[in-house]
Amino acid sequence: MKIRVLGSGAGGGFPQWNCNCDNCRGLRNGEINAKPRSQSSIAISTDDKNWLLFNTSPDIRSQLEVFPEIHPKKGIRDTGIKAIILMDSQIDHTTGLLILREGEPLDVYCTEMVKQDLTTGFPLFKMLEDYCTINHHNIPVDGSGFTIDGIDDLRLYTHALSSKAPPYSPHRHDPHEGDNIGVIVEQISTGKKLYYSPGLGEIEPHVLRAMQDADCLLVDGTFWTDDEMIRRGAGIKRAKDMGHMAQSGPGGMIETLDSIDPGTRKVLIHINNTNPILNEDSPERKTLDEHDIEVSYDGLEIIL
Ligand code: MLT
Ligand code: MN
Ligand code: ZN
Repeated sequence: MKIRVLGSGAGGGFPQWNCNCDNCRGLRNGEINAKPRSQSSIAISTDDKNWLLFNTSPDIRSQLEVFPEIHPKKGIRDTGIKAIILMDSQIDHTTGLLILREGEPLDVYCTEMVKQDLTTGFPLFKMLEDYCTINHHNIPVDGSGFTIDGIDDLRLYTHALSSKAPPYSPHRHDPHEGDNIGVIVEQISTGKKLYYSPGLGEIEPHVLRAMQDADCLLVDGTFWTDDEMIRRGAGIKRAKDMGHMAQSGPGGMIETLDSIDPGTRKVLIHINNTNPILNEDSPERKTLDEHDIEVSYDGLEIIL
C-alpha cells in the first residue's frame, strides 16, 4: 500500500496565522531549519487510483492540488477519492468536507459519536445535504474489521481511544466510546499493516497490541512536553487536556515506541507548531533520530 501524508501539522498548521512563537517566527524569517506543514490528513491506496482519505483538513484543496495521483482523470468531474474516514470530529480534521462540496455524494465512514457531533454542534452533515450530501457509514469501536466499497485490497480495524472530543462537543468533559478512534489498515493481499492514530491520549493495552502488530506506526506527534503551550506562552491548555500524550518523559511516546520491535517503522504525525522537533537542528529532533523515530512532513510517501 502507498500512504501519502497530505498534511503533517496539528490544528493551526505551521506556521499558524497568529502565532509568533520561536518556531512560527523562526520559519517565517528563515531563521530555523524547518518545513511548513498543513493540517493533518493522509490518503492510502493499493492501486494508485482509488484513494481512501483519513480526515479532511481545511487545507485539503492545496493538499490535493500538489498530489497528481488523486486528480480527476476522466470525464468533466472526477476524483481519486473513493471514501473518507474520520478519526474524530475535530475542526481541523473535518472542515475539509465543506471544501469537497462541489462533488458527488461523499461516502464518509465514522463512529456514531462523530456523526452526532457533525449533525449537532458542528452540523456539516446537515449543511452538506444541500450541496453534495453525505452517505454516512457507521464503523465499529471494538477493533473489529470491515472493508470499504471501491477500496478492494484494504481491511480496516477501528478501535475507541482514550482521548478528547473537540471543545465544541457535548462530550468534551463527558467521554464516550468512539469520540476518537485508532485504526489498523491492513493490505489483504500482502498482510502488511499500518497503525494510524493522530490523537492518542494514552497507551491502553489494545493500543499497545495494535502497535506491536503493525509494520509501520503513524502516531500522535503533537507535543514534546505536557506543558509545552504554557511554557511557550501560547496557551493555557496541557497536552493531556487536549487528548494528546507528550513525546518526552516517563510513559511518553518515545518510551512507548522504544518498547516496539526495532523493525517497525515509527513515524510521528500531527505536529503542533509549538513542538521543538519541528526545528530540524534542535536537540529534541536529535533525540528522536537516536531512537529511530521519524517526523512526517507534507508530501511524504510511505510504501508498505
Ligand atoms: C487536536 O487534534 O487536538 C487539534 O489539533 C486541536 C485544534 O482544533 O486545534
Ligand atoms: Mn488536530
Ligand atoms: Zn507557533
